[in-house]
Amino acid sequence: MALREVVKVGESSLRKKSKPVKDFDEDLWQLLDDMKQTMYQNDGMGLAAPQVGVLRRAVIVDVNNAFIELINPVIVSSKGEDIEEEGCLSVGSFRGRVKRPYTITVKAYDRFGYPFTLQGEKWLARCICHEVDHLDGVLFVDKTLDRDKYIKQGGKF
Ligand code: NI
Repeated sequence: MALREVVKVGESSLRKKSKPVKDFDEDLWQLLDDMKQTMYQNDGMGLAAPQVGVLRRAVIVDVNNAFIELINPVIVSSKGEDIEEEGCLSVGSFRGRVKRPYTITVKAYDRFGYPFTLQGEKWLARCICHEVDHLDGVLFVDKTLDRDKYIKQGGKF
């Protein structure tokens, strides 16, 4: 495992759409292992591959001490609403409120290419939504209810 550098807001690659993972091979496993180490090193709850400069649809989350890898995740349904403050390792210290679904159902593949379906509530739902947004080049600062505050402090997009 190796630490990877986290791409920061303002870098154009963070705004690109990531491509599906096609090969569930050693390169993917290495990427996921490195992402895990990088996330824990930075006290993150989640990390998406584009945040380490790899434009592939792979994310990891750790909510309630449950570590989950999601490859090619698709949120197939969502229900309810929830507002909480979010942060992002690519954004730095700013935290802002974001409205997210309370419950989501996501379909994804594990690192070996086996499909699974997962239901998440509250923080797990939030975290997965946040990470899946990264795969489409979307950052939480685009959606935050505290956008004015972010802009006032010179936040980048
Ligand atoms: Ni993020």
